[in-house]
Amino acid sequence: MKKLWGGRFTEGAEAWVEEFGASIFFDQELVLEDLEGSIAHVTMLAKSGILPEEDAAKIKEGLQVLLEKANNNELTFSVENEDVHLNLEKMLIEQIGEVGGKLHTARSRNDQVATDMHLYLRKEVRDIIAKLKGLQEVLVKKAEQHVETIMPGYTHLQRAQPVSFAHHLLAYFWMLQRDVERYEDSLKRINLSPLGAGALAGTTFPIDRSYSASLLGFDGIYENSMDAVSDRDFILEFLSGSSILMMHLSRFCEELILWSSQEFQFIEMSDKYSTGSSIMPQKKNPDMAELIRGKTGRVYGNLFSLLTVMKGLPLAYNKDLQEDKEGMFDTVKTIKTSLLVMAGMIDTMKVNTDKLGQAVKQDFSNATEIADYLAAKGLPFRQAHEVVGRLVLMCIERGIYLLDLPLETYQEVCPLFEADLYDVLDPYAAVKRRNSEGGTGFDQVCQALEKANAVLG
Ligand code: ARG
Repeated sequence: MKKLWGGRFTEGAEAWVEEFGASIFFDQELVLEDLEGSIAHVTMLAKSGILPEEDAAKIKEGLQVLLEKANNNELTFSVENEDVHLNLEKMLIEQIGEVGGKLHTARSRNDQVATDMHLYLRKEVRDIIAKLKGLQEVLVKKAEQHVETIMPGYTHLQRAQPVSFAHHLLAYFWMLQRDVERYEDSLKRINLSPLGAGALAGTTFPIDRSYSASLLGFDGIYENSMDAVSDRDFILEFLSGSSILMMHLSRFCEELILWSSQEFQFIEMSDKYSTGSSIMPQKKNPDMAELIRGKTGRVYGNLFSLLTVMKGLPLAYNKDLQEDKEGMFDTVKTIKTSLLVMAGMIDTMKVNTDKLGQAVKQDFSNATEIADYLAAKGLPFRQAHEVVGRLVLMCIERGIYLLDLPLETYQEVCPLFEADLYDVLDPYAAVKRRNSEGGTGFDQVCQALEKANAVLG
């Protein structure tokens, strides 16, 4: 088959070599963006007097037909035509005749593919932001039901101080909010047009880059043509932001998995998001949460593979850049499904309020309360810490908890203790009293919920 670039060649590559070089297997994902970019380009060519209006009109009509076919999944691509750009150009020429060959005036596949990638990521990042907000809404809804649900808060995975379950959930809300902001910020750089950079040096034709950029809804254009065709920072930023997001989801999943275990029993996942074992009839496994945790690895991998592709590339375009696509497509798909699954899991999980409440009663997570109690009475906190440490040790030796120790024992250890000490030992009171800004006190959590709702708008 004659190549669109075949003029200076006397021999063709063998089929398997051609296949090695082709990207059509995966870059057909960009078909709509490629057509959209071409329509803007030819519109600009006509407006700038580079192509006669009637030629441009024919080309545009042809592109519209292809667009319709693409939307109906009626296009068939071929490996011989290498990539989505050459496939579509060939189809256009077959459809409208030689005039179709004028489309590529003042353009190269290098600025063309970069334009496609910018358009594609803009669409997908906006969709991801919407899905992130969907997950945030589910978190807020769940948190609103559990402001006064008390649970152990952990450090080192050892019980530390009791917290509100809503407070724990809202920690993830704010992590996700940073993810939203990172994606929003990245849109500034995604939404720039490389179109008109040509192969690398610009073009001899009097093109109007700002015009084609505005037709495509870009906020501006790349300043430098060489940078425009060889920059993939915007994809790297997407992959970095996505890696951080997946890390957040993975941490959350790790907690959900722990919480679903027999040892914790803090939550029960809905059957809809669990699976059974082929051998052990009693099993209910949190597979979806495990998979999100697992898929974090591939997103990190995609970031590292593109960073590695980029690190040795001289300016400007190099075919290595074709390797930017699969990891990006894979990440988009992984992120979108993970966000939906995550929202579904949280929405449908059952929170075992009793188990959570019980957990804080049978431990020493109220020890800080008595240290604070003594410190409030004037004992230096360091000494108060020592006193309570001795009391905890006493309890451990007797197999009891701080609430079970009689007042006399407290007073033997430190005369500052009075009967009101039992009030602060109550875990509910411990949470309620942590009313410092951003703390787990119920008033604070209610304010945080208001803020979260305001952020969601
Ligand atoms: N398929 C190519 C890619 O994805 C398109 C650009 C090809 N440009 C070139 N000069 N060979 O990067």
